[in-house]
Amino acid sequence: FAVAPLGAQAQAYPAKPLTLVIPFAAGGPTDLLGRALAQSMGTALGQTVVVENRAGAGGTLASAYVARATNDGYTLLLHHIGMSTAPGLYRKLAFDPLKDFEYVGQVADVPMTLVGRPDLPAKTPQELIAYLKQDGAKVNLAHAGLGAASQLCGMLLQQAVGAQSTTVPYQGTAPALTALIGGQVDVMCDQTMQTVPHIKAGKVKLYGVTTRERLKPLPEAMTLREAGLKDFEVVVWHGVYAPKGTPAPVMAALNTALKSALKDPALLKRLDEVGVQVVPEPLQTPEGLRTHLKAEIDRWGALIRQAGTYAD
Ligand code: MLT
Repeated sequence: FAVAPLGAQAQAYPAKPLTLVIPFAAGGPTDLLGRALAQSMGTALGQTVVVENRAGAGGTLASAYVARATNDGYTLLLHHIGMSTAPGLYRKLAFDPLKDFEYVGQVADVPMTLVGRPDLPAKTPQELIAYLKQDGAKVNLAHAGLGAASQLCGMLLQQAVGAQSTTVPYQGTAPALTALIGGQVDVMCDQTMQTVPHIKAGKVKLYGVTTRERLKPLPEAMTLREAGLKDFEVVVWHGVYAPKGTPAPVMAALNTALKSALKDPALLKRLDEVGVQVVPEPLQTPEGLRTHLKAEIDRWGALIRQAGTYAD
């Protein structure tokens, strides 16, 4: 169909490759999910979807960039739960999650793992919790910046344990994981999308999972609830965004491509291997994403105010 009728020159969308902006470092969980999604959406659209990493400031740099990008359907953003925590964490944001975007739909829920450097003495999650309680300030807790899922999870962990650790920010959990494996930092929450192969290879110590239930790919891992952290749960939800004002027919084509990608057996297999679930179809919609985003902004805003973590 023609997006902008140009008479005889009317072009079908998409007439050229699309760019999917990833707000964190290459090789990390959002990048891994984004590349898999880009491939499947590209097939559905009959065009290449190029992944572009724009890491920095916990995902907020990329969000601001896409909010200001040309609204022609050729620049998209994949972002996660951080889109809903950023308004609480930053006093000034260069974009408004609820006003500056069009919403393609939700994608998938990615569990997190609590992992430690290979030679960390704590053997069990309970031992780690006891260590954090006793010696919290000595522990270096890595994360991917204010607005990262790892930062939210780390903040909730410190709150649940009742101890403050020393936080060390990176441009994404890919460089943070390298530091953890190298023993430069002690612990980190990170998404299964990245951690499962490293856990299986014995490169990091696995202490627990942040989901309500244990995970199929890591059945030996306790939930942090089981380990004594009451009601602890972090699930990293994801959405695809376009700049505000992207034409409705383009948004419809993107949503059709997203839905089709989320049925791609190759993508589903890849996600299943790391315990990631595609969201139910009613959530793979603009309304499904925006409604959830709004509820999450309210929910995390209140919690972040309680925790008192702010950045200017
Ligand atoms: C990443 O891809 O680096 C992560 O999604 C960062 C995070 O939010 O923890």
